[in-house]
Amino acid sequence: MSNEDKSIHEFDFNLICEYFSGMKRQGPGSEEITIKALSFIDNLSGKSRIADLGCGTGGQTMTLAQHTQGQITGLDLFPGFITLFNRNAERLNLQNRVKGFVGSMENLPFQNGELDLIWSEGAIANIGFEKGLTYWKGFLKKGGYVAVTYESWFTNERPAEIEKWWVDAVPEIATIGHNISIMQKTGYIPVAAFTVPENCWIDNYFIPQKTWQEEFLKKYAGNKTVETFIALMKREAELYSKYKQYYGYVFYIGKKI
Ligand SMILES: C[S@@+](CC[C@H](N)C(=O)[O-])C[C@H]1O[C@@H](n2cnc3c(N)ncnc32)[C@H](O)[C@@H]1O
Repeated sequence: MSNEDKSIHEFDFNLICEYFSGMKRQGPGSEEITIKALSFIDNLSGKSRIADLGCGTGGQTMTLAQHTQGQITGLDLFPGFITLFNRNAERLNLQNRVKGFVGSMENLPFQNGELDLIWSEGAIANIGFEKGLTYWKGFLKKGGYVAVTYESWFTNERPAEIEKWWVDAVPEIATIGHNISIMQKTGYIPVAAFTVPENCWIDNYFIPQKTWQEEFLKKYAGNKTVETFIALMKREAELYSKYKQYYGYVFYIGKKI
């Protein structure tokens, strides 16, 4: 296989995590978009229990915490992200309400029906959209909400180059309409679905990577795996600028029936 054909799944998890630890966010998003998604959720109080699955270092979790009351549990597979997450919570004096734990979104440490809200930005593809919505629903109270961003096609047809890139990365990637129908099928009322704007990708995801990529290459000078990984990250940005009318993240918000 040529290096150009590699997908992100073929790189060492620790390498990917070290790279993304250097950034405020590990995926496209923004404070504004988190707050917008939150505006559709009407069941929260000081007693609420919220989980942020695949929280990374907590970029969106801290925004969530600053605009809600109640307890927030962040969960991520990567211990390095959770260390930074808990440090971020302390820095913002949120440590009494916001705690990060190492764990898997596929094996949640909550009781059935315990949660008022499950949040997950840029991470549900790791379990699968339908599987995640189905499994997580058991942990929500009746009337509880799920709010996730997920890679989605904006059009019914796409150029082959971008189709292949995304099918390799997220085999289940589908159109917005299809994803809304999955939300309905898995037992949620689809409350809102809106596209995550371009600035969330460009200003908050691709641009911060640029200087970091140069530093990372210096740190690992001569390391072919790192060079190939950085080339893949650069290609992701190039493909976005070429094909952004065909795909992006969509925020899906659903209420458990
Ligand atoms: C694209 S990042 C998004 C991080 C953060 N939510 C954000 O938007 O900045 C995806 C995150 O999911 C985490 N992850 C991947 N598989 C996971 C799993 N099975 N359980 C929990 N977290 C997982 C990764 O470690 C990573 O932090």
